[in-house]
Amino acid sequence: MTAYSEQTARLWMAMDIGPYWIGRDDDDPLSPAAIAREEEKSKLQISSQTVRQEELSGQVQVVSTVPERKPHEHTVLTSPESHKPKSYELKPIRRTFADPGIVEVDSELLTQAQSADWETLKKLVAQCTACKALSQSRLSTVFGTAERTAKMVIVGEAPGRDEDLQGKPFVGKSGELLENILCALGLHRGKDVAIINVLKCRPPNNRDPHDNEIAACATFLTRQLELLDPKVVVLSGRIAAHSLLKTELSTGKLRAQTHSLVINGRPVPTVVTYHPSYLLRSPTEKIAAWRDFSLAKKLLLELK
Ligand code: URA
Repeated sequence: MTAYSEQTARLWMAMDIGPYWIGRDDDDPLSPAAIAREEEKSKLQISSQTVRQEELSGQVQVVSTVPERKPHEHTVLTSPESHKPKSYELKPIRRTFADPGIVEVDSELLTQAQSADWETLKKLVAQCTACKALSQSRLSTVFGTAERTAKMVIVGEAPGRDEDLQGKPFVGKSGELLENILCALGLHRGKDVAIINVLKCRPPNNRDPHDNEIAACATFLTRQLELLDPKVVVLSGRIAAHSLLKTELSTGKLRAQTHSLVINGRPVPTVVTYHPSYLLRSPTEKIAAWRDFSLAKKLLLELK
């Protein structure tokens, strides 16, 4: 079996590709014995070229005695039947090196996080290795930026591939859609809206976060919300809604109404909506998301 380095594995995972098994016959055609056998057979077949190697004062000299050919005449090496390429089934392997969600929290780090300022919190997140699969496969932690003027906070699920590469939330296709929705509402990312995620690391293969991973990251999320101190919160998708509202109701049931989250000891109006990546798959739901964001904006204006 080939031993893959951790670096290779990380790169593969970041690129959403992985090592593949190549199915083989019982008699492995790539084994040294099989190759020697085939070479022996092909010596009889390949008559148009002989290569003699001589060792000369420690150097290898290659003497080629290729017979003269007429122009347009090509040497064709005929393949014996057993040399014909066989088709092998390619099967993806299970990436067991980065799963399942094993979590070992560092309680000292989490205690520091509870009272950290924004920059310290960001550093603590970057140091965190609680979720083994995520911390081993991530390229970066995705913390979000502190927009002090932002009165609205959107909470997403977890970084995807683009976010992992760039270290910023919602920079891929779903981020584009989210920015378009905000722009259409006259809200601007940065100035009016801060965007953070439930998880700060990309789950391998964009799988759903495990409950223990959400719990391990909850201290960071809570502290971010305290520091951002929003007037209105939008929970984007099932994972954000379930994590913060402690419910298992579907996004469809939770959306289109005002919930409440207690942040810094006061109730903050909170709206649930569909995640932009769901909207990309189900564009007919965009109208529903538009209504939810309009509700969030209305709440914001009422509070000003
Ligand atoms: N999806 C999310 O929930 N968050 C991101 O940052 C990107 C995609």
